[in-house]
Amino acid sequence: MTDTDIRTRLHQSLARPQLTEGGGIRHFIGVEGLNRTQLENIIDKAMGYFDDGGRLINTDELAGKTVMNLFFENSTRTRTTFEAAQKRLGANVLNLDIAKSSTNKGETLRDTLWNLEAMSADMFVVRHSASGAAHFMATEVTPNVAIINAGDGWHAHPTQAMLDMLTIHRELCMKSGKSFDELSVAIIGDIKHSRVARSDISALMTLGVKDIRVIAPKTLLPKGIERYGVSVFEDMEQGLAGVDVVIGLRIQNERIGSPLLPSTSEYFKVYGITDARIKLAKPNALVMHPGPMNRGVEIASSVADGEQSVILKQVNNGIAIRMAVMAMAMRGQDEVKGLV
Ligand code: NCD
Repeated sequence: MTDTDIRTRLHQSLARPQLTEGGGIRHFIGVEGLNRTQLENIIDKAMGYFDDGGRLINTDELAGKTVMNLFFENSTRTRTTFEAAQKRLGANVLNLDIAKSSTNKGETLRDTLWNLEAMSADMFVVRHSASGAAHFMATEVTPNVAIINAGDGWHAHPTQAMLDMLTIHRELCMKSGKSFDELSVAIIGDIKHSRVARSDISALMTLGVKDIRVIAPKTLLPKGIERYGVSVFEDMEQGLAGVDVVIGLRIQNERIGSPLLPSTSEYFKVYGITDARIKLAKPNALVMHPGPMNRGVEIASSVADGEQSVILKQVNNGIAIRMAVMAMAMRGQDEVKGLV
């Protein structure tokens, strides 16, 4: 390869850091920039990890590869399902204990990563409070190690969005015969501070959903949200009318440092997802929530545990989606390195 070839390849990889030259995934930083076929391929790949009885299978797609989980922010579901997915793919898994790591002694993220890379990592799964952390790692620090974004600040949570899409696909499209184009989806609550809302909106749009609604008080909506092509409702009753999917969100108090609401009981009265309100959506509408849930604040326990809730199915689908994304990214990196 000539110097010009190398420069062109580097330039392309910086402009489209997630993708190989052939359009395959090599990092998974956000759903933005991926087209409908690419998102559908992720869903199809994840579907292949269920056997006929709907149980998850094991493969050897990451056999001999070392994956490091770097969670600089708290997590229950995401971290554990990533690890479950890595083990099902046959990877060697290392969990960095951030609380005991040298980032707390003033080491920069760049130095931490370089040191971890020197320990022969093939993939980093990273959650960080700084928006853009995963992109920074993929483009400036470790371009030869697959980077999977497990949530960066308010910015993006692409595997959550894809597990939400897989849940809609399995629980609604496959059961009703409807396609994404025909669905109405309402996202309720703290849209402003939610990386899940941003990634969900982006994935829903790319998959062709035409009626995406956000329902929240003005204070919990980002400025200019209409520009994303969603319709905005401040009134729950109007916003929920006739929707196929209801996605509840937690109030992200920790992101601002001070409580966002003067009273949680007042919020529940106006924006709580209750049995009476769910009746306004289509019969059998799905009730979803990324967790952690605050029962009695954004959702009533009877709805969270009710017949229409697919909240625990989302968790299980998270394993299949994370298997799909990691297997695809590893293959993309191996392709770039000429290993396959
Ligand atoms: C979300 C997150 O961390 O962004 N949760 C998750 O990953 N399951 C949403 C939240 O924290 O409210």
